[in-house]
Amino acid sequence: MKDNRSIYFDNAATSWPKPEEVYEAAGKVLRYSGSNPGRSAHTRSIQAERIVFEARERAASFLGAEFPEEIIFTLNATDSLNMAIKGVLEQGDHVIYTSMEHNSVLRPLGSQKEGGGITTTMVSPDADGFLEVEKVAEAIKPETKMIICTHASNIIGSIMPAAAIANLAKEKDIVFLLDAAQTAGSLPLNLQKIRPHLAAFTGHKSLLGPPGVGLLYVCKGLHIKPWREGGTGSSSEEERQPQLMPDYLEAGTMNTPGLAGLNEGIKFIQEQGVSTIRQHDLYLLNMLREGLKKIEGTTVYGSDDTSSSVAVVSFTVEGMDSGELGYILEEVYGILCRTGLHCAPQAHRTIGTFPQGTVRFSPGYFNTEEEVEYVLESLRKITVSFK
Ligand code: ALA
Repeated sequence: MKDNRSIYFDNAATSWPKPEEVYEAAGKVLRYSGSNPGRSAHTRSIQAERIVFEARERAASFLGAEFPEEIIFTLNATDSLNMAIKGVLEQGDHVIYTSMEHNSVLRPLGSQKEGGGITTTMVSPDADGFLEVEKVAEAIKPETKMIICTHASNIIGSIMPAAAIANLAKEKDIVFLLDAAQTAGSLPLNLQKIRPHLAAFTGHKSLLGPPGVGLLYVCKGLHIKPWREGGTGSSSEEERQPQLMPDYLEAGTMNTPGLAGLNEGIKFIQEQGVSTIRQHDLYLLNMLREGLKKIEGTTVYGSDDTSSSVAVVSFTVEGMDSGELGYILEEVYGILCRTGLHCAPQAHRTIGTFPQGTVRFSPGYFNTEEEVEYVLESLRKITVSFK
C-alpha cells in the first residue's frame, strides 16, 4: 500500500495521483509567474498567455479538434455543460437526453424546464447501460433542438454510441452535446471522427490535470450564447462581448496554474499512449469484476464485456448498506472509493439500484494489480465477518 495505508480507487470522481510534472508545472506558475494572461504587456503576462496558448493547442490536437479556438476553457465539466445547454436552448425547444446523465445535465435541464419553457424526453439504455440509437431516433420531434448523451456512464462505465448519435443529429439538423467527462484521456477520442457539435470535458479526471479546469468544444460555426460576459483583455473599448472565439466564451481571469497542469497531464498521456492506458485500465477492470463476482453475496452491475466500458465498476453486497461498506473499506482497510448515487439518480433507476445506490471502484493508471488483489481480499474479509 502507499500513502500511509490508503489505496485510491476513486479516479472517476477525480484522478489521483497526478503525474509529477503536473504538480511541478502548476506550482511553478503560482510561485514564479503569477500574472494575468492577455491583459498586460509585460513579460510575465505574455508568459502567462503562452501557457494558455500551449494548453489550448495541446488539448485541441489531443482531442482532435480542427481548430484550437474550438476549445474553450471553463471551470469543469459542469460549467461546460451549463454553458452548452443554456447557450443553445430557447423557449419551445425540445431536448432528448439519456437516463445515464449526471446531475450536471439533469439539473440544468430541470431548471430550463421549470423557467425556460423547454420540454424533454429521457431515453433509457438497458440495465447494462447500452443504448440503442433507434430509441433516440424515435424520441425526435419537429421541435427537438438538442440531444445530450454521456460518452460513458460514471456508474457502470458503459460506453454510449456517440458517433451514431452524432450522425443521427446531423441528419436531422439537431445539436448534439457529448459529455466526455468520464472518457477523455482513458479512451481513444477524436472529435473529428465522432463529430459532435459540442463536447464537455473536465481536466481533473482522466486528463490527469488539476481541478478547476474544464473544456468545452464548440464546433466552428455553431453560435451559442455566452454563459458569462466580462473582461477578456481584447476589444476593451466595446460594451458587448468580443465576438471572436475563444474570447467570446472566456470572460474573466484564466486559471493559469490549472492550465499549466492540464498541459502536462495531457502531455503525459500522449507520452504513455492512450492505448497503453486503456490496456492497463481494462486489465484492472477485468480483475476487479471477476474477483467481485466470486465474493458471496455480491452483485456486480454493468456488462462483463469490458471492451465497451471504461474502468468503473459498481456493486452491492446483500444485506449491507453501501455507505456503511464504503466506511469500513476506508476505516479498516484504507481503501478510498465512492458510494451512493454518484450524482446520477436516473442511472441508478436504470440499473435497479435506486435509492440505495452502489459502491463504486474506479481504478486509474497509477493503480496496480497488487492493489486490486488487496481490495478484493479486504472485501472478502468484510463479507465473511458480516455473515
Ligand atoms: N462525477 C464525478 C463522479 O462520478 C464527481 O464521482
